[in-house]
Amino acid sequence: MSPHLTTKEDQKLTDLPPEHLGLDHAGEEVWIDVIQKMDEVYADLVQSQSDLEDKNAKLEEADAFIRSVLGAMTDVLIVCDAAGHIQQVNPELLKITGRDEQPLIGSSFVELFCEDSRSKAAGFLDFLVQGKDIAPCDVGILVPDGPPAIVSLSCTPRRDHRGRLAGLVAVGRPIGELRRAYRELASAHRQLSEAHERLLVSEKMAALGRLVAGVAHELNNPISFVFGNMYALKRYGSAINKYLTACNAETSRHEMELLRKELKIDKIARDIEPLVDGTLEGAVRVRDIVADLRRFSSSQQEALETFNLVRLVHTAVDWVIKAQRTKPKIVVNAPDVLDVTGRKGQMHQILVNLVQNAADVVGGREDGEIQISCACENGMVVIRVADNGTGIAPEEMDKLFEPFFTTKPIGSGTGLGLYVSYNMAVKQGGDLRAANRPEGGAEFTLWIPEQGQPNDR
Ligand SMILES: Nc1ncnc2c1ncn2[C@@H]1O[C@H](COP(=O)(O)OP(=O)(O)O)[C@@H](O)[C@H]1O
Ligand SMILES: [Mg+2]
Repeated sequence: MSPHLTTKEDQKLTDLPPEHLGLDHAGEEVWIDVIQKMDEVYADLVQSQSDLEDKNAKLEEADAFIRSVLGAMTDVLIVCDAAGHIQQVNPELLKITGRDEQPLIGSSFVELFCEDSRSKAAGFLDFLVQGKDIAPCDVGILVPDGPPAIVSLSCTPRRDHRGRLAGLVAVGRPIGELRRAYRELASAHRQLSEAHERLLVSEKMAALGRLVAGVAHELNNPISFVFGNMYALKRYGSAINKYLTACNAETSRHEMELLRKELKIDKIARDIEPLVDGTLEGAVRVRDIVADLRRFSSSQQEALETFNLVRLVHTAVDWVIKAQRTKPKIVVNAPDVLDVTGRKGQMHQILVNLVQNAADVVGGREDGEIQISCACENGMVVIRVADNGTGIAPEEMDKLFEPFFTTKPIGSGTGLGLYVSYNMAVKQGGDLRAANRPEGGAEFTLWIPEQGQPNDR
C-alpha cells in the first residue's frame, strides 16, 4: 500500500474542529463537503487498492499453480501463436533441448525440430488453419549433443475468447524411454517363451523315457512277423530254385510231378502273395511307429494334417500299456474312424499324458480299468479318459494344471503333463478339464475342434 494514502485508522480531516481551519460558517460548510468528498475518494481508492492486491495475489497463486503443473509434466509442452512463434514451453522441453526459457519465447516453433521433422512441424499450423485434424506423429526434437529426442507429438488448436484460431498447443511424449521399456518387455517375453519351450521339451523327453518299453514292444510285433515271413520266403526261394534247376536238367515229366509235390510248389505259389503282403504290412507298421515316434519327440512346429483320431488313441494306449507291469483293462468306446484335422503330434502327446496318468493311478491293481470314449459334438471332438483309481483330492483339484504339481515320487512324475496338455488343447481352440466320477476314480475330458485352425499357435 502506498504510504501517502490514508487508512481507516488514519485521522480524517472532517474530524478536526472548523476553528482549527480558520473558516466562517458558509465557507466551513463548503469546505466540509469538499473534505467529505475527498475522504470518500480516498476510501474508494483504498478499497480499489486492496481489491487490486487481492487479485494480484490470486493471479500469482494461479501462475504458481500453472507453473507447478507444467513443471510436473513428463511430456513436453509447446504453445505457439498462429504465426508459429513460441509463447510458452514447460521445463521438460527446456531439459530436453538444454535451452533457457527467455530466448525461446518468440522464436520459431519449427526450429525446435531436427531437419527431418521440420516439414512435418511446419505442416501442423497449415493443417490447423485449414481446420484439419492432426494425427499424433513421431518427430525429433533437437538436443544439445546426440541424436534428436524422438517424441510422439499431438497438436490441438488454441482459440481466443472469440473462438478464432490463436495458435496451437503441442504435447509430445518422449518415446525413447517407452521404446526401451518395450524392448526389455519383448526380451523378457522371448525368454519366457524359450523357457516354456524348454519345459515342453523336457516333459516330452520324460514321457518318452517312460514310453520306450511300450514303443519297443510295439515295434517288436511287426518286426517279428517280418522276420518269420522272411524265413518262410527264404525256404520257399530254395525250393523254387531246386524245382527250376530240375526243370532245366531234362528231368522226366513224372519226376517233375513227384518233385513238385515233394517241394510243395503249389502251396508255395498260393502262399507267396499273402506272405509278401504281410511282410509289407509289417514294414509299413514299423515305418508308421517310427514316424509317430519322430513326430512325438520332434520340437519342430507341426503342420495341420487330417488323421484318424481313433487310431491315434489306440497307439497312445498301446505305447503306455505295453510298458506297464500290471496291465489294466482297457475299454475303448469309439467308432472305427473319426477323422480330424489338427496337430497330430500334439494330440498324441496329450493322449499319452492322460492315459499314462490313468495307468499310473490304477498301476499294480488287478481290477484297474481305463475307459476311453471318443465322439463328435457340435464341431468338437470330445475324448474322455476315465479310470477307477483313487480320484483327485478336492484340495488338489485346482493345482492339477499348474506346472510342476505332482504327487508322484521323484523320477516318476515331472508335474508337467497336465500343464503342457492343457496349454496344447487351449492353443488348438479346445479345452481340458478334470473331474471325479461319482462311482470313484477320475475323468479327464478333452475338447478339440474337429477342424483345427491353421493359426492356432
Ligand atoms: N487320473 C488321475 N487320477 C488321479 N490323480 C491324477 C490323475 N491324473 C493326474 N492326477 C494328478 O495330477 C498330478 C499332475 O499330473 P501331471 O501334470 O500329468 O504330472 P505327473 O504325471 O508328472 O505327476 C499327478 O501327480 C496326480 O496327482
Ligand atoms: Mg502325467
